[in-house]
Amino acid sequence: MCGIVGYVGNKQVVPLIIDGLRKLEYRGYDSAGIAVVNESHDLEIRRAEGKLRNLEEVIRLSPLDGTYGIGHTRWATHGRPTEENAHPHRDCSGRIVVVHNGIIENYLQLKEQLRKTDHQFVTETDTEIIAHLIEEYLKAERNFEKAVRRAMQDLKGIFALSIINADEPDMIIAVRQGPPVVIGLGDREFFVASDIPPILQHTRDVFFLGDGEMAIINKDAVRVTDFEANSVQPAIQRITWDPIMAEKGGFKHFMLKEIYEQPRSVRDTMQSRISLDTGRVFIDEMKNITEAEFKQFTSIKIAACGTSWHAGLAGKYMIEQLARVQVDVDYASEFRYREPVMDENTLLLVISQSGETADTIAALRETQQLGSKVLAICNVQGSMITREADGTILTHAGPEIGVASTKAFTAQMVALYLLGLYLGNLRGTLSAGEAKHHAQQLAELPVKLEHLLNESDDIEELSKEFFRATDFLYLGRGINFPVALEGALKLKEISYIHAEGYPAGEMKHGPNALIDERLPVMFINTREEGNRSSELRYEKTHSNIVEVKAREGIVISVLTEGDTMSATMSGHPSYRSFHFSFWLITSRCVVAAMSTNHATWQSQSPLSNKPTIDHRCFSVFAFSIAFPPMSLLK
Ligand code: M6R
Repeated sequence: MCGIVGYVGNKQVVPLIIDGLRKLEYRGYDSAGIAVVNESHDLEIRRAEGKLRNLEEVIRLSPLDGTYGIGHTRWATHGRPTEENAHPHRDCSGRIVVVHNGIIENYLQLKEQLRKTDHQFVTETDTEIIAHLIEEYLKAERNFEKAVRRAMQDLKGIFALSIINADEPDMIIAVRQGPPVVIGLGDREFFVASDIPPILQHTRDVFFLGDGEMAIINKDAVRVTDFEANSVQPAIQRITWDPIMAEKGGFKHFMLKEIYEQPRSVRDTMQSRISLDTGRVFIDEMKNITEAEFKQFTSIKIAACGTSWHAGLAGKYMIEQLARVQVDVDYASEFRYREPVMDENTLLLVISQSGETADTIAALRETQQLGSKVLAICNVQGSMITREADGTILTHAGPEIGVASTKAFTAQMVALYLLGLYLGNLRGTLSAGEAKHHAQQLAELPVKLEHLLNESDDIEELSKEFFRATDFLYLGRGINFPVALEGALKLKEISYIHAEGYPAGEMKHGPNALIDERLPVMFINTREEGNRSSELRYEKTHSNIVEVKAREGIVISVLTEGDTMSATMSGHPSYRSFHFSFWLITSRCVVAAMSTNHATWQSQSPLSNKPTIDHRCFSVFAFSIAFPPMSLLK
């Protein structure tokens, strides 16, 4: 992902843009650059390969200043991560500059055409052709805005752009066709960015551009049109996030901070939505789905990607048991390729932290075209998904800046649990007593999470034993199966260690062939005494633990506090969890190890960013999350 920051106003533009780019560092990058226009209308560019501080050094040695400008952090897709290929990119005159996030699919064809009219290219990027295309149309149109609009109509692919023409003072044009673009509205100053954090310390009034829209920004105003020049009324919103929430706040990196924010994020997501006295749930943010419709839906389809998909899979267990409605879960990236059967009695539930995931948006749109309603669980108000869905349950996790989803996942689980309770209440599948019991258990979660987050030392020790392992197997049964999948995803994503998640009961159908004395097998096996289905699940999984032990496998178990039976079998330190609750195991040390890993990762070329084995960190527990709310359910 690339990052874009732009500014028009009276502040010092260079430090503002550099600071903004720093807030987008989480997107990963291999080079950075900035273009500013000064009072004499001279356009200057500085670029550097590698870290942002390299660009700062370039600027220190060769300062520049201006009244407006655009900056960029690049993650190479077309062309090597060199200074030459770093954005911003220019046209032949050097007066038009472009920064770009995305991919232009037909850039080779456009480049060929432009060459015929004598355009000279100096980079290997797809972005450069955009500046030349605008230059070409400017010859005919003699109007920058019109030239940009015509150029947009030629581009195929996905792109977010910020564009400057030094001959149009104090103007930035921002364009969106796919990746997010946020516009910040200040007092005679305006901001453009790929995400909210760079803008937050300057203004909380923002709007997101929609697909096929462009914002024409100058010192006095912002105008939005579509690519056909029709005027568009932006949906301005006030961001309630505290700017401090988008800072690291003393933690080594954002992921660690966000893991520790879970008690707050879980609390905020459930707060004011559930009555402890009655167990009633209030979902009152619905634009276009009525209570009567919620009663009438005969099935729910869930579409999401990655971690959000895992949350959806866990949601299936919750909603089916609490509300007795059939739930199917799809990868959003597959949804539209299988001609889904939807009707007015089927609700599509999309889940997304960012609200901007292209496949999830595509699933939403396809469903609405088929005439069905779409409910969203989303963390970013004003994002494309919240704007287009018929109703949204917002997760209040706050900005999730770490690339690995952590607090957003647990907040999604809470939102799904609330939805299950809401439907259960509405459809009469839960008694008042049961509903109250669930509400009480949910209310206890934040405290339990806090307690668990304070107990990371055991895991620190355990992590040291396993950080050189090359493969892991994660097993769980029932709702612990999606949790196993999520644990495996986190291990892969953060530690670059191969990991598979499986339903524990599927082990005997193939995966057990892998088990030997070198393979750590991570069991998630929680239990609620007195709950028949929970005990059955526990006993069956315990048998799987015995089988792995019989094959000399290494067993690591995540168990309910006080469980000695599986702990004894595990042969490796097991860890405790709580009855009746989510639990999450994390470790300061493990995450500290991850930051070492991160440092190594950053010092290498991002195109070969695999750390060596010695630098691998072990984070099997860093985000092994178990969520056994089903143990609450009869
Ligand atoms: O923003 P979304 O929830 O739609 O993103 C979907 C996935 O890309 C995301 O959950 C991804 O799998 C996580 N960042 C992994 O930790």
